[in-house]
Formats: sequence, C-alpha cells, structure tokens
Amino acid sequence: MKPVLFALPGNEALTQSLAVILGAEVGEVMIRHFPDGETYVRVLSPVKAKKVVLVCTLHPPDDKLLPLYFLSALLRELGAASICLVAPYLAYMRQDKQFQPGEALTSRYFAGLLASITNSLITIDPHLHRFHNMEALYTIPALALHAAPALARWVKHEVAHPILIGPDEESMQWVKEVASLAGAPYLVLQKTRLSDEKVAVTQPQLAAYPQHTPVLVDDIISTGHTMMETVQHLKPLSAQKPICVGVHAVFAAGAYEALLQAGAARVVTSNTIPHISNAIPIDSLLAEAIAKWAI
Ligand code: R5P
Repeated sequence: MKPVLFALPGNEALTQSLAVILGAEVGEVMIRHFPDGETYVRVLSPVKAKKVVLVCTLHPPDDKLLPLYFLSALLRELGAASICLVAPYLAYMRQDKQFQPGEALTSRYFAGLLASITNSLITIDPHLHRFHNMEALYTIPALALHAAPALARWVKHEVAHPILIGPDEESMQWVKEVASLAGAPYLVLQKTRLSDEKVAVTQPQLAAYPQHTPVLVDDIISTGHTMMETVQHLKPLSAQKPICVGVHAVFAAGAYEALLQAGAARVVTSNTIPHISNAIPIDSLLAEAIAKWAI
C-alpha cells in the first residue's frame, strides 16, 4: 500500500517531488496561524488505516515542532496506521553532551519528543558525533541516510582537480567517503570551537597539490565561521579559489553572503533545507528509503 505524503509548511516542493517519484498521493492539509499566533490544523484527505509520511525538515526547529505535533496527534486520532517522519535535516544534534553543569542535553530531549509523536524517522547525515548511531538516541526506528554519494557526483561533475578538505575530525566520516567516491585526495584539519561564533582551524598542508581546487566539505554550515576560517588559510596557499560544499544549508543570517565575501568561489548545498545555494538534490535518496520503510 502506497503511503499518503503530507507536507508541513515550507516542504511542499520536496513532498511533491517525492510523491512523483513514488507514485504516491499528497494529502490535503491546512496549516495556518490565528491572529494571536496559535496554530490551526485541518486534514482534508482520508487517512484511516493508511501509512502516512510527514515531510518536515527541522530548521528552524522550534517553529516547526508545534505544527508537527498537532498534525501527528490529529492523524493518529483520524486512524492513520503509522506515521513516518521524513526530516531531511534533523535538528538538536549538536548539543550531544553536558558541556557545563546544569545544561540541558537537548539532543536527547528532542529525540524523546519526536519518538513520542511518530513511529519512525528518516533523515540525512544527522550530526552523529558523541552519539555514534541513531539507536543511541532514538527509541523508534530511525534511519540515517548519507548524502556523500550525491556530493561526490556533484564534485566529480563540477570540479576538474579537486582536493577535498574537512575542517575538523568529525568531518572525516563524510570527507573520506566523498573523496573516495570522487576519486580525489583529501585532508582533514583540526578545529577548536572558542564560542558560538568563533573557531580556530589548523592550516591545510597543500604543498603537494599545487594544481588542485580546494573543496571544503562539511555537514552543516551555520554561522559559516568554520568554512570562513579555512577559506582565509587557503588564500595564500592555493592559486584556485576554494569551493564550499555543505549537506545542510542552516545559514544563520548573513552567513551565506559572508562566506562568498570571504573568498569562496562557490557555496553549494544539498536541498535538505531549501536555500539559494541548493545544487545537490537528495530527492531520490529519500524516495528510495521511503519506499523501503513506509510501503
Ligand atoms: C560541527 O562540528 C559541524 O560539523 C560544523 O562544522 C559546524 O556546525 C559548522 O558551524 P559554523 O558554520 O557555525 O562554523
């Protein structure tokens, strides 16, 4: 039985594309705000005994959560057989440790919340660092897909002699895979985070790659400072302007423009979060997973 797909606000294009690939129906839902800011939700398609897929990328997460909660609760009440959340970007994965006494371990709380309103979860490259896999955090079946093959295809097609650069140890997992799939060399730097907006990144050793174009690869670009620091280091070392590739276009206000201003030749991302920099589609990756998990 094919699932019914519902788009949370802002996810309409991706949902439509998934429905076309899967030959599935897009359910009709009205989600709007009352003048006082409260959320109104109404489902107009029949869902009784049907598997339902909710498409909702979780950025910015706090605004997305309440409509998602209301829609899930309503669908359960209307008799949906199961609810699978497709969240191409999964938020609250970086506060994965109590760095200071008294801090909330929001990655765990957030996981508990999502598990209480859905039956399964499909996401792409969640920031697994101190939690090594989704099972360590999620009590529902939670599938983490990888955008590395899509990133590698883009690099292979768009960059003649790439040298891939990961800005920190965490990035090793995806940089190594993208490099191997793109048949390119790679370097991994070391990063120290000094504050939300300040990082220090070690110098890349580029001497062996004079003709190569540096391609910085990271999972999330948020303030852009990780990439900007690396771009600054590269300026005196490389004849080619670097290209920045991120999976998730989180981009705090002004970060995208600042990164281009800092000297990046191009800044490209996958479409896990809709953004002007999206150039690497992950629609078929998601559709394939939905077909396996929800049909
Ligand atoms: C964390 O380590 C992530 O992998 C990214 O490197 C980080 O989120 C990037 O953040 P920003 O763009 O704010 O430097």
